Amino acid sequence: MKFFADTAKIEEIRELAATGLLDGVTTNPSLIHKSGRNFLEVVQEIAQLVPGPVSAEVVALDFDEMMREAEILRRIGGNIAIKVPLTPAGLKACKALTGEGTMVNVTLCFSAAQALLAAKAGATFISPFVGRHDDVAFDGMALIADIRLIYDNYDFPTEILVASVRHPMHVVEAARIGADVMTAPPKIIHQLFKHPLTDAGVASFLKDWQATGQKI
Ligand code: E4P
Repeated sequence: MKFFADTAKIEEIRELAATGLLDGVTTNPSLIHKSGRNFLEVVQEIAQLVPGPVSAEVVALDFDEMMREAEILRRIGGNIAIKVPLTPAGLKACKALTGEGTMVNVTLCFSAAQALLAAKAGATFISPFVGRHDDVAFDGMALIADIRLIYDNYDFPTEILVASVRHPMHVVEAARIGADVMTAPPKIIHQLFKHPLTDAGVASFLKDWQATGQKI
C-alpha cells in the first residue's frame, strides 16, 4: 500500500520523506489555505522534495478553464497529478489529461457509481472520502470494499486512493480491503508507529542493557 501525506506544509513533508516511507503527497484548496503559502510555489517545492505523485487541484468548474489551470499545474513537473472534482466537466478533463499522459486524481468521490465513472474516464487515482462519509453516518469503508470489487471485476487500472482518513484504523481497514493508496494527515501517519508495548519494551531493554555496563 502506498502512503501519501495529506498536507501542504513543507516541514511535515520533509520529516515524513526522511523516514523513507512516503510515496506521494495530496493537497487541496483547504490545505493550501492552511499552509498560508502561494499555491504554485508550494506545489513546486513539494514536487521537488517528493519524487512520487503530488496532487494539485484545479478550482475551475468548467472544462476549458480546468484544462487551462491543469496546463499551468502540470508544467511544474512530471510527478504532478492533476486533481479534478467528480463532475461531468471534471471527468471530461480527466479523459483529456490522461489521454495526454498526465496523471489525474479524481476527487470528492462518495459512491461506487461515481468511482465506476472515474475508472471509465481513465483516472489514475480515485479518491473516495471515507471520513466525510462516516461523518454523515454512511460506512466509508464499505464504499472502499465496493470500489475494490468493481475495479477487480473489470481489471480497471485506476488506483483506489483512500482519502479523508481520520484515524489509524482507517488505514488498517483500507489495507485489509486492498486499497492501493491511502492519504492521511502527517499526525495520523506518525500515530501508526505507536504502541505502548513497543515503548515499554524499548525502555526495559535499555534499562537492562545499561545494567550490563557494556557498549557496542
Ligand atoms: C485528499 O486528497 C482529500 O482532499 C483529503 O483527504 C480530504 O480530507 P478531509 O475530509 O479531512 O478534509
